Amino acid sequence: MSPWQELEAERERICKAEMAGLFVADPQRAKRFSVTACDLLFDFSKTHIDDVILTHLLRLVEECGVAGQRDLMLKGYRINSSEDRAVLHTALREQDGQQRFVDHVDIMPEIHQTLATLRSFANDIRNGIIRGSGGCIENVVNIGIGGSHLGPEMACRALSFCVDGPPAHFIANIDGAEAKEVLAGLNPKTTLVIVASKTFTTLETMTNAESVRQWLLAGGGSLTSQFAAVSSDVEKCRDFGIAPERVFGFGDYIGGRYSVWGPVGLALMIAIGPRRFQEFLNGGNQMDGHFATAPAAQNLPVLHALTGIWHNQVCRHRARAILPYDRRLRRLPAYLQQLIMESNGKSVTRDGTAVSYGSAAIIWGEPGTNGQHAFYQALHQGTQVIPCEFLLAARGHEDDLSHHHEILIANCLAQSEALMTGRQPGGDEESHRGCPGSRPSTTLVYPQLSPSVLGQIIAMNEHSVFVEGAILGINSFDQWGVELGKEIALSLLGSVGTDTGSPPSSGSTAMLLDYVRQERSALAPS
Ligand code: F6P
Repeated sequence: MSPWQELEAERERICKAEMAGLFVADPQRAKRFSVTACDLLFDFSKTHIDDVILTHLLRLVEECGVAGQRDLMLKGYRINSSEDRAVLHTALREQDGQQRFVDHVDIMPEIHQTLATLRSFANDIRNGIIRGSGGCIENVVNIGIGGSHLGPEMACRALSFCVDGPPAHFIANIDGAEAKEVLAGLNPKTTLVIVASKTFTTLETMTNAESVRQWLLAGGGSLTSQFAAVSSDVEKCRDFGIAPERVFGFGDYIGGRYSVWGPVGLALMIAIGPRRFQEFLNGGNQMDGHFATAPAAQNLPVLHALTGIWHNQVCRHRARAILPYDRRLRRLPAYLQQLIMESNGKSVTRDGTAVSYGSAAIIWGEPGTNGQHAFYQALHQGTQVIPCEFLLAARGHEDDLSHHHEILIANCLAQSEALMTGRQPGGDEESHRGCPGSRPSTTLVYPQLSPSVLGQIIAMNEHSVFVEGAILGINSFDQWGVELGKEIALSLLGSVGTDTGSPPSSGSTAMLLDYVRQERSALAPS
């Protein structure tokens, strides 16, 4: 039987077992179903995975040739076949003296050169050498969306305790409320604007960039000294008015959602400084080394991916909650949503045949303990089983409030324990108090959030996504599904103001547009 068939066959047997009983049967279970790598401890023992299941999951890794596919990625082969691109975001965090080849050309000199230019630019901003029309740069606004926004935003929030340079603000949404809100407290003469767009064509980013340019110029700011761009298209940046020496480019072997490690991380580098940014890269690089060399049975990203496959593709628990008990990681769920769902949310495999076992899980979440007072009710008693992924720091950064952190830890551990043990109802009238228990969760623990630990967590998730994609046969590095919506939005744009644009194909959209047009003209300022 194939490992998939074996897993299907075993699923019923093991999922009937009470999870807490697995610990009674095997006192070493916590040790045997957890793994450490770099500074991370990943505990997947509060799941139904046992030795038999793990053996079949590891057979999947073997039979799908995950190690071979990983090596092809790291060697710079064009594994993003639908876009004919190599996938080498790992090169951005590679150490000095290493080589990485794309089409027989070593890309490391180019990467080191780019990083050196970024460092020098970031230092010049931080030291007041590059100034705005009103003096030293006091704030940075990053305009970008998707991969050009979620990574730097998540990392800036995560590493807020390291910020000693101009803080970063983010405009992503096309909704004008976002630009208004962000710009409200800023001085146009001392704000640096970074337009981050790999293609420099994304409608939201270009519209926001134009509005911010007008805001800056109207307020006496200087386009030449206060605008920079992160883009692969220097020409388009020049047309916008950004000088080529202020454009930081990157090769097409860096995908948008994998790009925080390079120029897209510029706002982060300015905020925390190049030295701490390098620690972030080093953390990612350490995890790369582990992923590239550890045997599958001790490989954290591999075991993380296998736990996900067990829950989603085998047990059909289609969602996964990301629950960081670390407020600074509050944007991690949104970041992972793009990383996981844009990478592996696909119905066809590399060769165009249908994906057999379901694509990426639905990723969502909120930091603890807030979520406990919102949706955890459904995690404990709802009819859907939602595997939970807890993240927890042994130590916080608020030493003067360390008792808060103790309460945070107790809550995090209590939740995974409660999900597992459940509670028997006391009698008929008590049935509403019963919790079924045996609900799976994993916990990722680390000593304390730091640039290095954040780098490890992000790189671990990138590799986990890769392993899932490799096992399912998916190309994790393209995103053709987002194109259709973009195209229809452009074609509808002309119809929002008047009914002269291309007519919508459905009666529903026509009716909604009609309503919007009427209400817009009724509410138009006189
Ligand atoms: O949403 C699709 C997408 O192409 C993402 O993959 C990407 O991160 C985002 O748009 C932004 O693209 P760009 O950096 O080219 O503006």
